[in-house]
Amino acid sequence: MEVIICPTAAEAASTGASILARLLREKPDATLGLATGNTPLALYAELIRRHQSGAIDFAHCHAFNLDEYFGIGPDHPASYHRFMSENLFSHINIAPEHCRIPDGLAKDVPTACRDYEQAIVASGGIDLQVLGIGGDGHIGFNEPGSSLQSRTRIKTLTARTRRDNAGDFGAEDNVPMHVITMGVGTIMEARSLLLFAFGAHKAAVVASAVEGPITSMVPASILQMHPCAKVILDEAAASQLTRAEYYRWVYANKPAWQADA
Ligand code: F6R
Repeated sequence: MEVIICPTAAEAASTGASILARLLREKPDATLGLATGNTPLALYAELIRRHQSGAIDFAHCHAFNLDEYFGIGPDHPASYHRFMSENLFSHINIAPEHCRIPDGLAKDVPTACRDYEQAIVASGGIDLQVLGIGGDGHIGFNEPGSSLQSRTRIKTLTARTRRDNAGDFGAEDNVPMHVITMGVGTIMEARSLLLFAFGAHKAAVVASAVEGPITSMVPASILQMHPCAKVILDEAAASQLTRAEYYRWVYANKPAWQADA
């Protein structure tokens, strides 16, 4: 696991965008795994900016989102379909038919989840998965206790996550109880992972995920087992890491040929 500590979230987003841009230069038909929430907004803004300046072409890539609330449709203002359209897809040249997000209105959930997994495989597997981290350590909506080998399925949100996400729905009670999420095992099959975290409110959970034991109680801690995982932080989110100076030193001394890799 590589830990990259950036002075600001904007610089972290730029670092992430450069990694993604390099992937798309080398593999224009790459499959991306995407996240929603506040964290990737700066990354998406930077990707849009680079696309509009001609530096990134999304024409041939495919995208799979991590998750969607269950019981709401794509037009619901808080749906992740709407989020992705407003914050990324409608501003770049990705083909709409290449953008997949779990169906929050699926009638046959197990079949829809199996189909989602099969679609990922059919697209060649995810080359790069973007992740945020929940205050309780979740990735995707794999809440604490999720099997570390889980696949795409329906999950019940914790009270904490419903509280954290209440803003999108006006009140905690309006936040759906259930979600469809890629599993931890699904996420771990991506060839590379980029987990972003910003702000002091993420510092404790980042320290548990990066430096604590691997446990389903902190699902993000499984990233320690991934052969190509990067954790990109701002200073505040890195503030409880005991080995921060070492991570900075490693990054500062990275061989030039590894830049953006
Ligand atoms: C969203 C997702 C979640 C979020 C996490 C952090 O697709 O998968 O794991 O990344 O809840 O949310 P923010 O970024 O809003 O703090």
